[in-house]
Amino acid sequence: MSQAHATATSTSTASAPTPVPAHYARLHQRHALLTGAGGGIGLAVARAYLEQGARCTVVDLAPRAPEPVQALLDAGLPLRYRAADVRDPGAIAALVEQAEAELGPLDVLFNNAAIFDMGPLLESDEAMYQRLFDVNVKGMFFTMQAVLRAMCRAGRPGAVINMASQAGRRGEALVAHYCATKAAVISYTQSAALAMAPHGIRVNAISPGVVDTPMWDHVDALFARYEHLQPGEKKIAVGRAVPLGRMGRPDDLCGAAVFLASDESRYVTAQTLNVDGGNVMS
Ligand SMILES: NC(=O)c1ccc[n+]([C@@H]2O[C@H](COP(=O)([O-])OP(=O)(O)OC[C@H]3O[C@@H](n4cnc5c(N)ncnc54)[C@H](O)[C@@H]3O)[C@@H](O)[C@H]2O)c1
Repeated sequence: MSQAHATATSTSTASAPTPVPAHYARLHQRHALLTGAGGGIGLAVARAYLEQGARCTVVDLAPRAPEPVQALLDAGLPLRYRAADVRDPGAIAALVEQAEAELGPLDVLFNNAAIFDMGPLLESDEAMYQRLFDVNVKGMFFTMQAVLRAMCRAGRPGAVINMASQAGRRGEALVAHYCATKAAVISYTQSAALAMAPHGIRVNAISPGVVDTPMWDHVDALFARYEHLQPGEKKIAVGRAVPLGRMGRPDDLCGAAVFLASDESRYVTAQTLNVDGGNVMS
């Protein structure tokens, strides 16, 4: 089996993760807050963080824990599920306070919640612009700010990982606003890293290419509409175009997400790491 087609990893969603022995755990007793972690990449990373000994506050929009998060709670893993909308800075600030009261000071933020939309440039309206910037930029920035404030107040080192995208590295004719929001994530990552370096807080980003999640089902449907394709056709095409030969799976992001949260990356800040099967080259 080629490396590109290796499948099951210890963070597969089939069963509850088993934390590695404390001695080996790379996030032993760290408290991580993860947004948009009710599914997709965020959920895979929450599972990986739990496996590495972290306590997790998992945030998403649904009022009750989505089924895979409930399964983790039922398995007795150290996590809390909190419903919140990242577009509401007041709610997020209160949530950070509550999370710290429940599971201790925050050490890690996986700043992941985002939405996707696209359309012909000349037809895109203010509503689409506003929707995308509200979640992907305003939500991303003020969530980061709330957690950075808490980390500074506690006087502890910390790690922030913002989810960018290859879309933030270049324009795309049909995807102007989403691309711009992800370029903003890369820029805020750099500025925040410089502002927080004196506090011992590192700020980095991850830039995936194409990852098979609920978001991509939506992306595929939109490309089908605008490029007159059959459902599923775009997914197959983008997977084939990846140098490693396939779309990413949520688990493929976990190694980088653990690395950037852990002390192994203690001398890494202000970076946006491509985790994209080589997509940036194609
Ligand atoms: N899937 C990809 O191909 C891909 C590629 C590059 C970058 N990314 C980025 O990776 C991150 C995760 O993407 P994914 O594919 O797992 O997406 P997803 O849609 O599967 O998951 C995103 C989660 O964010 C939540 N969310 C949306 N709006 C929110 C809000 N206002 N407040 C709180 N939560 C909210 C959703 O409910 C959802 O659970 C995103 O930042 C995305 O832009 C994804």
